[in-house]
Order: sequence, then structure tokens, then C-alpha cells
Amino acid sequence: MLNLIPAPRGSVHMQEGSVKLPETVTVSLGDFAPWCLEAFAARLDGHVETAENGFITLKKADIAKEGYKLTVTKDGITVEAADESGAVWALTTVTELTAEGEALPIVTIEDAPHYGHRGLSLDCSRHFFTADEVKKVIDQMTRVKLNVLHWHLVDDQGWRIECKTLPLLHETTGTYYTQEEIRSVIEYARVRGMEIIPEIDMPGHTRSMIAAYPHLSCFGEKTELCQFGGIFEKILCPGKDETFEFIEKLLTEVCALFPDDRFHIGGDEAPRTRWEKCPKCQARIRTEKLKADKNHTAEDRLQSYCMTRIEKLLNSKGRQIIGWDEILEGDVAPNATVMSWRGSAGGIKAAQLGHDVIMTPNDYCYFDYYQSEDTRHEPFAIGGFVPLEKVYSLNPTASLTEEQAKHILGTQANLWTEYIPTSEQVEYM
Ligand code: ACM
Ligand code: ZN
Repeated sequence: MLNLIPAPRGSVHMQEGSVKLPETVTVSLGDFAPWCLEAFAARLDGHVETAENGFITLKKADIAKEGYKLTVTKDGITVEAADESGAVWALTTVTELTAEGEALPIVTIEDAPHYGHRGLSLDCSRHFFTADEVKKVIDQMTRVKLNVLHWHLVDDQGWRIECKTLPLLHETTGTYYTQEEIRSVIEYARVRGMEIIPEIDMPGHTRSMIAAYPHLSCFGEKTELCQFGGIFEKILCPGKDETFEFIEKLLTEVCALFPDDRFHIGGDEAPRTRWEKCPKCQARIRTEKLKADKNHTAEDRLQSYCMTRIEKLLNSKGRQIIGWDEILEGDVAPNATVMSWRGSAGGIKAAQLGHDVIMTPNDYCYFDYYQSEDTRHEPFAIGGFVPLEKVYSLNPTASLTEEQAKHILGTQANLWTEYIPTSEQVEYM
């Protein structure tokens, strides 16, 4: 048995014997870009050099995306992969097999992921984690070959991203990532074959936005940042044109920072109670002819209007949107990817409608829930109970036809941090 998580999906052939990595590991890069060695070199404290006839030889081969074939012999290692990310995962396997100073077994491994999206979301609003702490999370993700960090950067409790054109956003919160720090985290992830998806949650969970710019809410009253969790009624006013002008300015700046093409616009837990009373929201409902039916209120349709308008804006910047499953209430923005969190039902419905889906059902994937029933000996948590066996038992395509299952891009664990104040606890959860 190999001590590898996740277990390789292809073949594993072990033979007698083992081989130690040399003090300095030489690598022949072949046609691969040098960045694919960065994380490997970091894990070996820099004892990695490129060379003509290296101990490790990288070779391009016709292998699935992110897949690799790793051949370990007494005399050296061959890595075959189609792309740099495949090489990154092969070299991750090498350091996982040598963890704690062990020699590598003589072995041939073929491995490739089942899903292209293997994510973790990290909430850096409720509690702030420094750029170095986020990089530490990325390192942990890399060890188990996760390839997407969904970065929840803003919420009611804090705005964590420097915004030069709208500086009250970060100034009002006070603890945030500078743009330089954001860039350094993105680059750190990039050379680990990892995509970062930023989330700017709208129109709910926007209290930190409204604390900075009160005119964005329906009634414009002064609002404080809040310390505690819960759902706040005071959210963005989609009745005002200024709200969309603001969002455009904001997203233009955030898109300029994040190079990958996917962008999460939230959409969850947006109470429509104030929209019901707001003359501007009601005027928008009239001018846009948004109609209630037996399943949806006119205010539900107003949220769809809001999300669709943001989607168009982001599409014009070459971005594809992701939203929480609430975006299915009303008219879904047509090209949206749905992140199913209130169980799997939203994901199933979305896949049936032909949307791409990322499965993050809370009953399997919420890593802020208790993981033991002996809660007295666990750090205080938000509630719930999701032990490891439950996580492993998730079948993200259960009850879908083969055709619908093609829309499931993958799965993701979500780590909300209302009750997670330290980087150590993040790692524990
Ligand atoms: C969520 O947990 N509100 C997406
Ligand atoms: Zn309003």
C-alpha cells in the first residue's frame, strides 16, 4: 500500500526495493516550463536544480489533463504528463512518498483526477488570515491534490481586498490584503497548478460594503460593520443605478487583479424584505416588468435581474460567473455555474437545466461543522456533524443521468470562519 491521499486512480505497480532522493535533486525539464518545479523545490528547501541528465526526467506524453505517469527505478525517476499541472502532481506524489525522510518505493503509478474542480473555499472575512497563512492552506491543499481555492474575500464582517478606486471599502474594515499581497497569493497558487476564484458576494452579505458606502442600501442609513454571523436584512439596492455603477467600478478593479476566467458573485441568503418597501426597488420591478408567479415573488425576480446584470458585466470582461444555488430562484443567469450548498438538490436541478455545477452540499462538505460527536472536546463550532466517513461517502452525481452528470465539474469543501479565529484551527478543521 502506498501512503498517498488521494489514492491514485490508475494503476500502481510496486516492486522490491527503494531509492532515496539525492541531496540535490537534478531535473531534466524537457518541454516543460520551469514554474512546474517551484513548489517541489520549496518542499525540498531549494535542493533542486535543472540538469541535462537529471535524476528526474520530465517527458511530454499523451495523458489526460492533470494526469501523470510516474516511474521510479533505482537509477532515477521519469515523469510523463501532458501539461505542467500533471508534472506538479507527479512531483507532489514524489514528496508525499518521501515525507518523513522515507525512501521512495520502486514503483510505477498512473494517476489522473476524476474531476477538474477539486476545491476548498476559505472565508477570510469573518476572520482574517494573513497572506502567508493563506499560502499555508494552499500548501495543505496541494498535498491532497486540490486545485481550486475559492477565496471568500468579503462579507458582512469585513472587506478584505484593497480597492484603490473605492478605498473606503478596505479602510472601513482596516484589516485587508493589499493588491500586492493578493498578486503574490495568486502567483503562489499558479505555480502549484491551482486556480483562485475570488468571491464578491452580492447582493446579500454586503454589510461591509454598505458600512463603507451607505448609499448602496435601499434607505441609505449609516451602518456599522458587524461582529457576529447571521443574515442581515440591509443589502444592496438593485433599484438604484448608482448600485450598478458602483459594482462595475469594483468588478473592473477586482478582475484586473485575478487572471483566471471564473468569478463567484455569491447570491446566497439575500433577504428581500427591504426591497418590498423600497420605492426604487419597486420602480425597478415595474419598469423591468418583473412578475410574481406561484413559485416566485417579484422580489425574487429582482434578485435574478440583479445577478443577470452582474453576469453580463462580467461576461463582457471575459469572465464566467459562479453563484450559490439561490440563483436558481427566479430566472437563472443563462451561463452561470451553480454551487450547490443547501444539500445537493440545487445542484441536481441545475444539472437538469443544463447548468454546470460544483457540488458543495453542506451535509457532506461543510468543514466548519463538528467532525466529532464529542463536541465538549472540540473547538466551539457553528454546529452540524460531518465526520470524515460522511465526506468520503459523497457521490456528487447520485440520481443524475449520464448526460446530466457531465455538468458536475467537481466538489469542494467550504470553510466558513465565524467560529474559526486562528490559522491553527483552520488547519485542524
Ligand atoms: C453559504 O453557506 N451561505 C453559501
Ligand atoms: Zn431598494
